[in-house]
Amino acid sequence: MKNLLNIINIVLCVWLSFGCTDGAQKRKSGEVSFHRIHASSLFPSSSSSCVLSPRASNTKSSLHVVHRHGPCSSLNSKKTKTSPNHDDILRLDQARVNSIHSKLSKKPTARDRVSQIQSTDLEARDGNTLGLGNYIVTVGIGTPKHDLSLVFDTGSDLTWTQCQPCGRNGTCYPQEEPIFNPSSSTSYSNISCSSRFCDSLTSQGHYKNCSASNCIYGVFYGDSSFTEGFLAKEKFTLNSDVFHNVNFGCGENNQGLFYGAAGLLGLGRGTFSFPSQTAMTYNNVFSYCLPSSPDYTGHLTFGSSGGLSTSVKYTPVSKVRDSASFYGLDIVGITVAGKELEIPVTVFSTAGAIIDSGTVITRLPPKAYVALRTAFKENMENYTSTMGHSILDTCYNFTGLESVEIPKVSLSFRGGADVEVDSKGILYVFDVSEVCLAFAGNGNDDDVAIFGNVQQKTLQVVYDGAGGRVGFAPDGCM
Ligand SMILES: *[C@@H]1O[C@H](CO)[C@@H](O)[C@H](O)[C@H]1NC(C)=O
Ligand SMILES: *[C@@H]1O[C@H](CO)[C@@H](O)[C@H](O)[C@H]1NC(C)=O
Ligand SMILES: *[C@@H]1O[C@H](CO)[C@@H](O)[C@H](O)[C@H]1NC(C)=O
Ligand SMILES: *[C@@H]1O[C@H](CO)[C@@H](O)[C@H](O)[C@H]1NC(C)=O
Ligand SMILES: *[C@@H]1O[C@H](CO)[C@@H](O)[C@H](O)[C@H]1NC(C)=O
Repeated sequence: MKNLLNIINIVLCVWLSFGCTDGAQKRKSGEVSFHRIHASSLFPSSSSSCVLSPRASNTKSSLHVVHRHGPCSSLNSKKTKTSPNHDDILRLDQARVNSIHSKLSKKPTARDRVSQIQSTDLEARDGNTLGLGNYIVTVGIGTPKHDLSLVFDTGSDLTWTQCQPCGRNGTCYPQEEPIFNPSSSTSYSNISCSSRFCDSLTSQGHYKNCSASNCIYGVFYGDSSFTEGFLAKEKFTLNSDVFHNVNFGCGENNQGLFYGAAGLLGLGRGTFSFPSQTAMTYNNVFSYCLPSSPDYTGHLTFGSSGGLSTSVKYTPVSKVRDSASFYGLDIVGITVAGKELEIPVTVFSTAGAIIDSGTVITRLPPKAYVALRTAFKENMENYTSTMGHSILDTCYNFTGLESVEIPKVSLSFRGGADVEVDSKGILYVFDVSEVCLAFAGNGNDDDVAIFGNVQQKTLQVVYDGAGGRVGFAPDGCM
């Protein structure tokens, strides 16, 4: 009964949007607005064992998702082990966000385009940055099948892997698995320069050239990483589902911060992304769950036959500026500790938003972030605050505390999809004396907001390309 009253109280508060500012009273009467968490659970266990999620093996098109730097990743051997620290991760996260913002800012003028194409300086090129807080899956390529760990990226379309012979014109960076050799695969074929796929490279912002009528591609990332090689077709095997003639990039010249992964699986909205190419089988539907910690696996599942949660709440996908790859969403509100923040709806509509598997920290329009930070601080007033760290400006010292209570945070999307962020998606933990609110504000009101991967943890996130919608359900994985 008490709980029911409490829920009614909160519903009224949200609905009427006034009163209810008495945090102390609410805290006493209801835990519904707070997560009570053991301080020790904030940190990754020191064990080096991996707990496999059972979900991933249920359907034939489901793959284990692992965080790149953790006990579940196979990319942790001596050969490639150069794990980045938190400062590197956040610095490169900002580089990725900057490149997304510049890609999605007002259309470049014709003159900008020409100078971009003429530029030979890789670092000056506009492109997307891979970032570091990424998740990987293992995909089989070729005949016989060669298993490779690929970063998956909902922000780009072109799938690629490093290919032998590296070093003919360039080099390959060190990767964990042996580098794919197209000449030992019976299902490999080059793509001709006159194909539609080859033509589409320039419209995707990539580099295109021809060599003996074979199509050459190049993707330049904002952090001066790049991949370059032949566009080709190959057989791809996902668990036990087989796809023939999938278009991909066979990169013979690759450099950058890929930390042992063999390449990238492009899950964007565009025509040449992996979900678009396999739409005949999977109807352009895929879903994933990012695990709460590197000690667990999540899953990436294609199609809907694996059983999507019945509690998925959908929001329509919108086109973002002139990008064909990104999934645009409309954020309409933010709730902290059961109270909806007063943010004019134009703050969100001016910026627009995307969901991105490769951005770590969610970015909000400046005014929305300030409102979130203010409400969060009010609800955390009993904890010792400390200086900000890197891109995060709201931090606490939890030294000596056994448990903490943190306010729940929900994001509301157009169409009534209210998504409660998991307790693991609210804080970014450097160490016990430095635990920060894991959100950041954009620099400008019209920079696009980004729903990042820390806040997506444990949610089942469903991309329904055919239905033009993205959905969320809680408890998708551990
Ligand atoms: C802080 O602690 C005081 C004293 O225990 C309590 O009354 C108050 O509700 C707490 N504030 C919050 C935001 O929890
Ligand atoms: C693809 O093109 C490269 C470069 O011209 C060539 O070495 C290779 O043999 C071609 N592969 C096939 C299967 O045609
Ligand atoms: C295309 O490749 C040729 C030969 O490899 C090279 O000379 C030319 O500069 C390339 N074109 C561009 C636009 O880079
Ligand atoms: C490598 O260089 C050779 C000769 O210069 C050229 O024919 C070939 O197309 C180049 N390959 C790539 C992937 O750029
Ligand atoms: C955190 O709090 C502990 C105990 O109060 C103190 O010893 C330590 O210096 C603090 N650390 C930081 C970074 O503020």
